[in-house]
Amino acid sequence: MKAIDETKLNQFVGQLLGDLGGALSVPLVRLGDRLGLYQALHAEGPMTPAELAARTNIAERYAREWLSHQAASGYLSYDAKTGKFSLPPEQAMVLADQDSPVYLQGGFDLAVTMMENQALLEPAFRSGKGVGWGEQSQCLFCAAGRFFRPGYLNHLVQSWLPALDQVVAKLEQGATVADVGCGHGFSTVILAKAFPRSTFIGYDFHAGSVEQARAHAREHGVTANTRFEVALASEFPGKDLDLVTFFDCLHDMGDPVGAARHVRQALKPDGTWMIVEPAAGDRLDDNLNPVSRLYYAASTMICVPTSLDQPVGAALGAQAGLKALSAVISEGGFRNLRKAAQTPFNMILEARP
Ligand SMILES: C[S@@+](CC[C@H](N)C(=O)[O-])C[C@H]1O[C@@H](n2cnc3c(N)ncnc32)[C@H](O)[C@@H]1O
Repeated sequence: MKAIDETKLNQFVGQLLGDLGGALSVPLVRLGDRLGLYQALHAEGPMTPAELAARTNIAERYAREWLSHQAASGYLSYDAKTGKFSLPPEQAMVLADQDSPVYLQGGFDLAVTMMENQALLEPAFRSGKGVGWGEQSQCLFCAAGRFFRPGYLNHLVQSWLPALDQVVAKLEQGATVADVGCGHGFSTVILAKAFPRSTFIGYDFHAGSVEQARAHAREHGVTANTRFEVALASEFPGKDLDLVTFFDCLHDMGDPVGAARHVRQALKPDGTWMIVEPAAGDRLDDNLNPVSRLYYAASTMICVPTSLDQPVGAALGAQAGLKALSAVISEGGFRNLRKAAQTPFNMILEARP
């Protein structure tokens, strides 16, 4: 047997304790979200278990245990003198404020979908077959939207669109836009609100998501300049479009080259294809970091099976990187491609014919 380096062993056990602590926190964080516990602490300030229980209409014994876990996790602060728990402002940005750029509750929802997908992935790992997007955990569709929404809300209109050549001017004047793989339509609604003179058509192959997107548009009062249709990325009916957007979906598609070709012929000659993809380097060595770790997990449990289930089954994965994406985009007939912007979670590509 190889000699054990005690220091390395202790370091790894320490790392796994932290990882397991995070994994076991998933249902508690979601309870805090669903029951309005973070919101109450955010609104009211420091509270005892009895105060939180009364404020949120839950049982005090559960409140005490949940609060203790949250304090042990560093998610809440605990003042032993007063017996009160509080949500520090930085933690509130991540756990309570759904419009903050670092709001991560959607990530906890994604963790649950991935747990639920495990049973579907076991046979898929053996057979090599895919698992359809619509067959996966029913929590996936809202979790994906919720995870990406803070990035879109804080960056799309403010910095991503201005980084593209002439696109904002066209949107302000009145452009026709297809938002393909739109899911629940968070990106479509943000765009429609910001550019009321433009028309936005959201397409997705998942009928349930299209229904949700329609409801979302009604809720936000943007039905006058939006509509949503069920369509494949390689077949959506648009023509003479000024802009086509793909938000975090190109790598999920079975035939991304087919989709790229279709976008090419749907655009005006001076149109733009905006592709938002997970941030990633080109090589695995570039991606051995905490953000890529999350993406490789989602890619294994969601993105690769989704793509393998479709014709061609390219399975680019959520960490494809610019080089692999460029090959797909140029095979689809686009001559000009550049990375226009980047955040820790996303890279924004601009493709032009
Ligand atoms: C990770 S979700 C992103 C959803 C949405 N764009 C967002 O950012 O919240 C990927 C989306 O791609 C859609 N999708 C996957 N393959 C597709 C295809 N071949 N044609 C159309 N939509 C597809 C899925 O239904 C899903 O809504």
